[in-house]
Amino acid sequence: MEDRTAVSASAPGKIILFGEHAVVYGRPAIAAPLTHVRATATIHPARDGGVILAAPDLGVRQNLANVGTEDALALTVQQVLIAAGLQRLPDMTITVTSDIPIAAGLGSGAAITAATTRALAQFLELDIPVTDGWISDLTYEVEKIHHGTPSGIDNTVVAYERPVYFVRQTPQNLIETFSVQQPLHLLVGDTGISSSTKDVVGDVRRSWQKDPQRFNALFDGCGALSEAAREAIQTGDYEEIGRMMNQNHALLVDMTVSSPDLDRLVSTALDAGALGAKMSGGGRGGNMIALV
Ligand code: PMV
Repeated sequence: MEDRTAVSASAPGKIILFGEHAVVYGRPAIAAPLTHVRATATIHPARDGGVILAAPDLGVRQNLANVGTEDALALTVQQVLIAAGLQRLPDMTITVTSDIPIAAGLGSGAAITAATTRALAQFLELDIPVTDGWISDLTYEVEKIHHGTPSGIDNTVVAYERPVYFVRQTPQNLIETFSVQQPLHLLVGDTGISSSTKDVVGDVRRSWQKDPQRFNALFDGCGALSEAAREAIQTGDYEEIGRMMNQNHALLVDMTVSSPDLDRLVSTALDAGALGAKMSGGGRGGNMIALV
């Protein structure tokens, strides 16, 4: 095997500006990258020892040979192996680090997968085109471990690293990246409470199955806000964006995915003069965003 050099790649965190949960049911949503918090994957070649997966922040160091594909990092590596048409991987150490808070609705899982996939594609010098779409598709498969039925918005925004307007649909999701007239200043408030998106998404599904009419109306409301918000973001109408964030939060409260801590952060932000505020992501913990 020829000598390979160490490589490194990173991917950003993300926030959902409008339309979380409703996006799982085919309504549009808007997400944006948080470029200053990132996950990084670094790969060093090794002389022997197989493929070592290391996450020093979590105190994890294991050999790929001993890990099943229920592990997100192991599945990430296996997928690239298959996509590359390789029989076996060269010996290497894959180290992942991240300053994106975990289980906080900021896309840390998707960012780790996207960064690792990018780094592996570089390290293995794949001769297939490594597009953002390709990174996003492989990341989606791994997101199923975290989310159960992910809409696809997290992997998309993290791989494209641009604001996206996203609709989950078949045969192909609608993905439109768009420009922002004037930058939005968003304050992210962390409840410090970690919450499982998979569990919350499952609860919403059960509530929707019990009362489809009511939940479809809530999803429609969120979808309409995403559509209108895209216009307002493009024209830089801050007051309107803020109002719509407040409306979106109210719909998420009705869906029962907010929490007393999130509601308190929202009202604190509004009392302090924010133009609008809402929970962002899976909810029942995680983050609040406020337009300031
Ligand atoms: O990863 P989170 O917690 O930001 O949640 C993603 C948003 C949901 O709409 C709740 C789920 C999904 O797959 O879109």
